[in-house]
Amino acid sequence: MTKKAFTKFELGNKLTLQNRIVMAPMSRGSSTQEGNLITQEYIDYYTLRAKNEVGLIISEGVYVNSTNGFTSRYNNTRLHNQEQMEGYRGLVEKIHETGSKFAVQLWHCGPASDDPIGPIKTQKWGKTVNVITKEQMAQAKEDFVNSAKLAKEANCDAIELHAGGGFLLDAFISLTNDRKDGYGSTFEGRIKYPLEVIRAVREAVGEDFPLIYRVSQFGFGEDFSEIKWRNPQELKEFVLAIKGAGIDIIHVCDYKCTKITFDDQEEKNCLSAWAQKLSGIPVIATGGMTYSNTLIESFMSENKSPVSDPEPHLALIENNKVDLVGVARGFINNPDWVIKVKNGNWKELKPFGKEDLMKLI
Ligand SMILES: Cc1cc2nc3c(=O)[nH]c(=O)nc-3n(C[C@H](O)[C@H](O)[C@H](O)COP(=O)(O)O)c2cc1C
Repeated sequence: MTKKAFTKFELGNKLTLQNRIVMAPMSRGSSTQEGNLITQEYIDYYTLRAKNEVGLIISEGVYVNSTNGFTSRYNNTRLHNQEQMEGYRGLVEKIHETGSKFAVQLWHCGPASDDPIGPIKTQKWGKTVNVITKEQMAQAKEDFVNSAKLAKEANCDAIELHAGGGFLLDAFISLTNDRKDGYGSTFEGRIKYPLEVIRAVREAVGEDFPLIYRVSQFGFGEDFSEIKWRNPQELKEFVLAIKGAGIDIIHVCDYKCTKITFDDQEEKNCLSAWAQKLSGIPVIATGGMTYSNTLIESFMSENKSPVSDPEPHLALIENNKVDLVGVARGFINNPDWVIKVKNGNWKELKPFGKEDLMKLI
C-alpha cells in the first residue's frame, strides 16, 4: 500500500506537490559577502534534494531587509532587491526541472536582529531589545511586502512568513506583549500587527499565490519555554484569525511534533493536529522526525543522534490529522531522505551530529 505521505498534495488549484514531504527551513549562512546573494553551492544544495523527490522545499530564513531585520550571526541570503531576486529565479528554474516545488521563507528577526526591536522593551539573547516604533512597524510591513513580490517575480511556488521562534511576528503574539497602543495586551491587540502584515502581503501577491505561516508554541521567553496557546480555544482564535487574513497553510514547528498538547482535553492530539482541526486548512507538522531528540539536545550533545522510525509522523498524515510533514535535520546528511523512507529503508538513514552542521552553516 502506498502511504498517503507519498501521494500528491493539492491546495485547490494554487499548488500541487508530488508528495507530502516538506524540507523544513534551515539557515545555511552562506550568502556572498557582497550583496548577500545565493551562491552556486546554494543552488547545488537545494537542487540535489529536489532531484531526490522532495515535495516542497522551504528555503532558509531569508532576510527581508538590510537594516534592522537581520542578524549577522547567520550570514543568510536576502531578498529585497532585483539582483537577489535574479539569483532566486535561477534556483527556482532548476528546482522546477526536477518536479519539486520551492517556497521562500521570509524572515524579520525583530528581537534577535543586530539592532534588536520588538513590541516591548526587554532583554533577549544578551541584548536590550528596544520598542519598535510605529514607523519601524510600517517599514517592516513594507519590507515583507517587497520581498513577497520579489519571491513571486522569482517564480517561487509559495511564500512562508517566519512567525515562530520569538522573531518579530511571533514577539507580537507573545503573552509578554503588554503594549497599550492597541498592538498588545489582549488577544486582538497582540495579533493586530501580524494580521496587518498578512493582509498586506496577501494584497500584494494576489489571491492565487500560496501563503504559509510558520508558528511555534515556544518562542519569546529567554529559555524558549513560553506557552502561547494554553487551550484549544486560544489556538482556535489564532488560527481562524490568520486564515481570515489570507493564510493558506499553517506550518507548526515543535521540538517533537507528535507530542500530545492540551493533555487535559479528552481528545488527544498534537499541536499540529489541533491546528488542522480548528482551522480547517492544511497543516505541515515539523519536529523530531528522523531524530527523536530535540534540536537543542542535538546541538548540545557530543554524540551522534541515532535515527528513529518516522512512522508516528507519517501516521499523522495517514490518519488525516495533518496534511504534510516537515523534515529539517534529516535532510542534512540524507539528501535522498524521501526515496529511502518511501521504500521502507529508513534504517539506512545516517545519524546526525552537531559537526554535521558545518556542512550547512
Ligand atoms: C541548522 C538549522 C537551521 C535552522 N534554521 C531555521 C530557519 O532559518 N527558519 C526556521 O523557521 N527554522 C529553522 N530551523 C528549524 C527547523 O526548520 C525545524 O523546525 C527543526 O530543526 C525541527 O525539525 P527536525 O527535528 O526535523 O530537525 C533550523 C534548524 C536547523 C537544524
